[in-house]
Amino acid sequence: MAVLVTGGAGFIGSHTVVELQNAGYEVVVVDNLCNSSSKSLERVQEITGKAVKFYEADILDAAALDKIFAENEIDSVIHFAGLKAVGESVQKPWEYYNNNITGSLVLFDVMRKHGVKNIIFSSSATVYGTPAQIPVTETCPKGEITNPYGQTKSMLEQMLMDIQKADPQWNVILLRYFNPIGAHKSGKIGENPNGIPNNLMPYVTQVAVGKLKCLGVFGDDYDTPDGTGVRDYIHVVDLALGHVKSIEKIKENPGLKIYNLGTGTGYSVLDIVKNFEAATGVKVPYEMKPRRAGDIATNYADASLAKEELGWVAERGIKEMCEDAWRWQSNNPNGFEG
Ligand code: NAD
Ligand code: UFG
Repeated sequence: MAVLVTGGAGFIGSHTVVELQNAGYEVVVVDNLCNSSSKSLERVQEITGKAVKFYEADILDAAALDKIFAENEIDSVIHFAGLKAVGESVQKPWEYYNNNITGSLVLFDVMRKHGVKNIIFSSSATVYGTPAQIPVTETCPKGEITNPYGQTKSMLEQMLMDIQKADPQWNVILLRYFNPIGAHKSGKIGENPNGIPNNLMPYVTQVAVGKLKCLGVFGDDYDTPDGTGVRDYIHVVDLALGHVKSIEKIKENPGLKIYNLGTGTGYSVLDIVKNFEAATGVKVPYEMKPRRAGDIATNYADASLAKEELGWVAERGIKEMCEDAWRWQSNNPNGFEG
């Protein structure tokens, strides 16, 4: 039996494929490479020594998905495929709703036609909006979402809950990620954003490697210890291992489960800059900028439910996250393009 990983050539997907293969799972990947390179999967093979069965296809293409389910004995799906740039989603709402919502509905339909009813879905801490309490627990109400990307996460959570309620044979695990950073220890796979990065860590590493001049710090007047935004940064390998634990859990027929995947510790933007400089010995010039629209002051997880029910805790600290992100960036200044 195999695990189908949609979006498996991407940042979190490629790291998850490594950990699934290391744990002995057979993995099939479907990705249309709209935000990734098939080279990531060649690198996965270099790391694990195991070939990755890869289909270059779009999840909007029902016939292509049907063929994948017909050709492989799939018992569970980990669904990463989606567009994820918050700012771009405001400019291109139709594209985000079509890709993320329609694409997922096509996937769920092909799954049910083939009797595959186990799914782990990549959700996000963004569904909490401005969290009602910090640290955020899974029982916190969903908050106001200010962009189409976040709406797609919240809507897809609801759709999967409704599908599971109507047919209790479905097992649905919604994983709400906090802020994944870092890279595999080998330096062979990592985050490879198109154009100028939106997220903090890839911006920091690109300044450090000399591709960008200076980090803009978005706001220094938040109600936080140093005035800059506080987030729960989690090593992408810990996040990947959370998916392996979820695949183990789904075999117990758990019905519907929702877990935060975070470390439980918040770091400010300036903490990240200082930790990165200390871990790598490379200076990161920065300047203060106005707040970025839609940002919140503080967000970090209560991840105790994942510990209790999945036996999962994030083990890699901020030093390791910075060292590993830097190894990937400095070994691959232009990502997978050499
Ligand atoms: P990524 O862009 O690196 O990976 C997503 C992959 O999906 C890419 O390889 C892309 O080519 C593929 N894809 C997109 N649309 C597709 C389609 N229609 N058909 C087939 N493949 C398609 O992003 P990531 O950071 O690895 O994120 C993975 C998932 O986790 C996404 O759903 C994202 O929204 C979610 N998530 C990411 C973060 C984060 O900060 N990185 C936080 C919370 C949630
Ligand atoms: N920041 C800067 N300068 C930058 C980039 C970011 O100061 O150039 C700051 C932000 O203002 C924020 C912090 O760094 O305070 C983190 O910002 P990111 O863009 O890295 O991450 P966000 O917390 O805004 O959002 C990310 C993903 C969302 C996801 C969310 C929770 O982009 O998709 O984490 O998982 F929903």
